[in-house]
Amino acid sequence: MSGTRLFFAVCLLLSALLIVTQLPVLQPMKAMPPAPAVGMGVWQARGCEGCHTLWGQGGAFAPDLTQIYEQRGGDYLREFLANPQAFHVGQRQMPSFGLTRSETDNLLAFLQWAGEQAAGSAWPPQAIVVSGGGGLSGSGVVDALPAVDLSDPVERGRLVFSQPPAICSTCHSLEADVTIVGPSLAGVATRAGERIPGESAEEYLRISIIKPGVYIVPGFEDVMQKNFGDVLTSEQINDLIAFLMTLTSEVEPG
Ligand code: HEC
Ligand code: HEC
Repeated sequence: MSGTRLFFAVCLLLSALLIVTQLPVLQPMKAMPPAPAVGMGVWQARGCEGCHTLWGQGGAFAPDLTQIYEQRGGDYLREFLANPQAFHVGQRQMPSFGLTRSETDNLLAFLQWAGEQAAGSAWPPQAIVVSGGGGLSGSGVVDALPAVDLSDPVERGRLVFSQPPAICSTCHSLEADVTIVGPSLAGVATRAGERIPGESAEEYLRISIIKPGVYIVPGFEDVMQKNFGDVLTSEQINDLIAFLMTLTSEVEPG
């Protein structure tokens, strides 16, 4: 009888210890203080995320604002939000929202908070270096980038994949089983031909890029930008497809 009790006591102690030691691991983000929490409500109520991203989530119409507080500072942001059209004339313009003083205060507290969390979690994610990417010295520092043959569509597509304006690599890894925001694209050339009956791999990839909402990979959200057909030239899209078509399951990507 007392043996059973001892057993339970030891179990209880062990699980308490486990919880205490795991707590910092389970809660990487600090709890949100009141002002940022209210600011997040304003952010959502005013539809800021319809045009802007934070940590990559939201609309792709306007700049990502994860680090904006650190980059611009509170004074600048206050003036910008009061009269966005006075800034960056000739670019895409942001509408005025007629925010109240306290809405602005809380929004700025939220943006500051967002940037602080991001500093700890290294947003934006860096492109993952794939095996065979070349130029990696033992120390992990890139010492020599391989020369790129720009007459080769596959090589051009590889660049489109990892560079602005698309930076597909922000959301897609080329390592098998590494999920960032979207699925890993390792082996996608092999999968693509089997996704939709009657649709070739190339056709599926093209639709996935220019109309990502048409087919949603099970288990993922429909968050891929819908404007790649506008921001990329048709040559860039063809190059991207040529590159993705090299990512077969048998061959290591890279
Ligand atoms: C209809 C689309 C749209 C919505 C909604 C929107 N913005 Fe913007 N925002 C833009 C565009 C476009 C720009 C870039 C224009 C510029 O920099 O002048 C921008 C730029 C910004 C900038 C950066 C200014 C700079 O100089 O770097 C901040 C900060 C910002 N928006 C905050 C907000 C906040 C906060 C909200 C919600 C209250 C919001 N935006 C809602 C379109 C939008
Ligand atoms: C903001 C994050 C994000 C970016 C940037 C992004 N994607 Fe995606 N992508 C996703 C998500 C999430 C899915 C899964 C949901 C879906 O099917 O739309 C996806 C799905 C895909 C698929 C379908 C994969 C499959 O297994 O069927 C392809 C192909 C693809 N993306 C290619 C690209 C290319 C090429 C780019 C750059 C031009 C790109 N993506 C940029 C998030 C992103």
